[in-house]
Amino acid sequence: MQMTGNTILITGGASGIGRGLAEAFHRMGNQVIIAGRRKALLQEVAKANPGMDTVELDITDAAQIQRVADGLIARYPALNVVINNAGVMPFDDAGGELDDAQAVKLVETNLLGPVRLSAALVGHLKKQPHATIINNSSVLAYVPLAATALYSATKAAIHSYTLSQRFMLRDTKVQVLEIAPPWVDTDLIHKSGDARAMPLEQFIAETLAKLPEATTEVLVDSVLPMRANPGAGEHALVNGFNEALAADPIPVA
Ligand SMILES: NC(=O)c1ccc[n+]([C@@H]2O[C@H](COP(=O)([O-])OP(=O)(O)OC[C@H]3O[C@@H](n4cnc5c(N)ncnc54)[C@H](OP(=O)(O)O)[C@@H]3O)[C@@H](O)[C@H]2O)c1
Repeated sequence: MQMTGNTILITGGASGIGRGLAEAFHRMGNQVIIAGRRKALLQEVAKANPGMDTVELDITDAAQIQRVADGLIARYPALNVVINNAGVMPFDDAGGELDDAQAVKLVETNLLGPVRLSAALVGHLKKQPHATIINNSSVLAYVPLAATALYSATKAAIHSYTLSQRFMLRDTKVQVLEIAPPWVDTDLIHKSGDARAMPLEQFIAETLAKLPEATTEVLVDSVLPMRANPGAGEHALVNGFNEALAADPIPVA
């Protein structure tokens, strides 16, 4: 993606990976708008980064997403990058009882949130000279962590959705990228300093170094073997499969 001259909306931009990306893009001179629910935290981050803007957004609220998207398009006609980063990661028990309320909130946040926000903005993005949608999945999209089974499933789902989104936008100026982080030391579960977690600064630096050349996915080197698990030929396979069906569509009644 183009790394400068952008107007970038980042959900979950007031903490962790979102804040790291927001501050890095801000330092490069991009106009950055961070979104989230915690107004005081959004304001604190904006104050520390003069010129950065904020917008309150609960990504589980479909009507609010549409309102915020419309408002941003009016306020920032050059908005051309959306980073779908907001997410939650509760533990669950795929071999036991289901916390239904937690499950619904998880799917609404991690899956429907990015899907709804992309849909609300994609018409505008198509009109930009160049645009990028970045979906933040996880390496757990490829290799699930059983103790966070539904979280892993939402990330596998957003990976799958990203493949389709990229295919459907293939003839437009809208590039679709996926960032699939490893365990990064943030407050997603608990910022612990655990030696197995990648320090945030290191993750942001490696991700930013890879973004300019990225055409599909951005993974830090340490987790490339996990990504290879489902098969490295996936993109060619997905494109070939969809090209064949696009050429000879499935008949509908
Ligand atoms: N850290 C890791 O190990 C890791 C690994 C792989 C993938 N990821 C992904 O990276 C993304 C960022 O996570 P993080 O590690 O940076 O943790 P984090 O600091 O907890 O960030 C999560 C962000 O999501 C926002 N958010 C949560 N629910 C929301 C809602 N309903 N509406 C709007 N915003 C909401 C939060 O802001 P508010 O609470 O203010 O709304 C928060 O800023 C997530 O999608 C996560 O799944 C993280």
